[in-house]
Amino acid sequence: MSSVYRIPGAVIYLLFCCLQSTAGEEVVKLQELEGNTVIIHTGLTAVQSDAKILWFYGPEKADINIVDSRVFRGETVIDYYTERFRDRLQLNRNSGSLTIRNISRDDSGLYKLQIIAGKTSDWSFRVNVYSPVSKPVIRNQAVIHSASQGGSCCPLCTVENGKDVNLSWFEEKERISSINSTDSSDHLSLSLNITVSNNSTYTCVASNPVSNRTTRLNITQLCYINTVNDPLLQNRIITVSAVLAALGLTVVFLLMSVVWYKKKETNHQESEDGEMNYAEVKITSQYSEEFNEKKCARGTEIQDHSDSVVYSDIKT
Ligand SMILES: *[C@@H]1O[C@H](CO)[C@@H](O)[C@H](O)[C@H]1NC(C)=O
Ligand SMILES: *[C@@H]1O[C@H](CO)[C@@H](O)[C@H](O)[C@H]1NC(C)=O
Ligand SMILES: *[C@@H]1O[C@H](CO)[C@@H](O)[C@H](O)[C@H]1NC(C)=O
Ligand SMILES: *[C@@H]1O[C@H](CO)[C@@H](O)[C@H](O)[C@H]1NC(C)=O
Ligand SMILES: *[C@@H]1O[C@H](CO)[C@@H](O)[C@H](O)[C@H]1NC(C)=O
Ligand SMILES: *[C@@H]1O[C@H](CO)[C@@H](O)[C@H](O)[C@H]1NC(C)=O
Ligand SMILES: *[C@@H]1O[C@H](CO)[C@@H](O)[C@H](O)[C@H]1NC(C)=O
Ligand SMILES: *[C@@H]1O[C@H](CO)[C@@H](O)[C@H](O)[C@H]1NC(C)=O
Repeated sequence: MSSVYRIPGAVIYLLFCCLQSTAGEEVVKLQELEGNTVIIHTGLTAVQSDAKILWFYGPEKADINIVDSRVFRGETVIDYYTERFRDRLQLNRNSGSLTIRNISRDDSGLYKLQIIAGKTSDWSFRVNVYSPVSKPVIRNQAVIHSASQGGSCCPLCTVENGKDVNLSWFEEKERISSINSTDSSDHLSLSLNITVSNNSTYTCVASNPVSNRTTRLNITQLCYINTVNDPLLQNRIITVSAVLAALGLTVVFLLMSVVWYKKKETNHQESEDGEMNYAEVKITSQYSEEFNEKKCARGTEIQDHSDSVVYSDIKT
């Protein structure tokens, strides 16, 4: 892939014929996808054949000479100076255009072309290179109990953050919410609150100036709980069952101990009027109802389910 940028011919002509210095000159802005071959077009068609052509680059200020081309004793010489652009640059002497192969984010910055043919003329280009946005991921923030009764559902869409990344929810073709962040947080998240019976199509779109990725919300899959297939719920059921089984065994053991002890006492100390030993076993099981609707938290990570508590209170 390559992109083409042109400065209108008239502007070039004006600049070329009239400008001696470059102060206040307009900077052409280019936005590029990482890995592309980029041609910084000048729009010029016939640069004077004996002109000296220079390209400069710098992240902030174009102060590093990366290309130097001149005619020396009738021979055209083109020097590509820097290690970092090694083998990736190519100058077209007819137009002054510069080709940069396999451009990377580190190549972002200011590029300046200088043509010296009696007089000196400059053109500046601001190049921003972006990597493609990653695909957004949609998760549920909370297990919704009342989904089948037309409850609400709070899907959370998350994407890796990066330069100029936007994250948006679309209902059909309409953008209903969006977020971007200038800080360096790792992820961007945006939640949606919908009624599960809503049959519109919802999509989450991540975009930057050069790319976009879309993930479609599957309400059936995300908002309706299938108890059998929900691993979280299944885990909980297994845990609770195990705890209850252990408690049951303990109770049986204690009761048997009591019976055995009483029997022994009766056998050997029939005449003695001893205190009666007994065990009182009390089990309280409190299984908190955590599968309730949770609030749709805007832009937050998944909220954990409150932990279920199983109390056992054994007195002897
Ligand atoms: C492009 O550049 C990257 C490093 O920025 C390198 O890993 C990759 O191999 C290069 N690809 C080609 C086709 O040269
Ligand atoms: C960030 O969002 C605001 C408001 O939604 C918008 O005006 C701005 O252009 C966005 N910035 C970028 C870099 O997309
Ligand atoms: C879906 O919900 C949105 C708001 O949540 C509402 O604007 C829209 O009309 C609903 N669509 C249907 C088909 O119920
Ligand atoms: C939603 O479903 C109802 C009937 O179930 C239908 O009449 C309506 O057109 C659907 N809306 C959309 C946006 O698909
Ligand atoms: C981000 O969204 C805002 C509007 O919400 C838009 O103006 C801006 O151009 C978008 N930026 C990108 C990089 O998509
Ligand atoms: C996403 O990118 C495609 C081209 O790849 C473009 O046609 C479309 O308009 C873009 N969508 C948005 C929402 O930017
Ligand atoms: C949504 O998910 C359900 C259950 O996983 C699946 O049967 C259905 O095909 C999915 N729908 C779409 C549009 O992907
Ligand atoms: C979601 O929106 C509905 C109204 O559309 C509201 O009744 C409900 O409380 C909201 N749910 C959450 C968790 O914010």
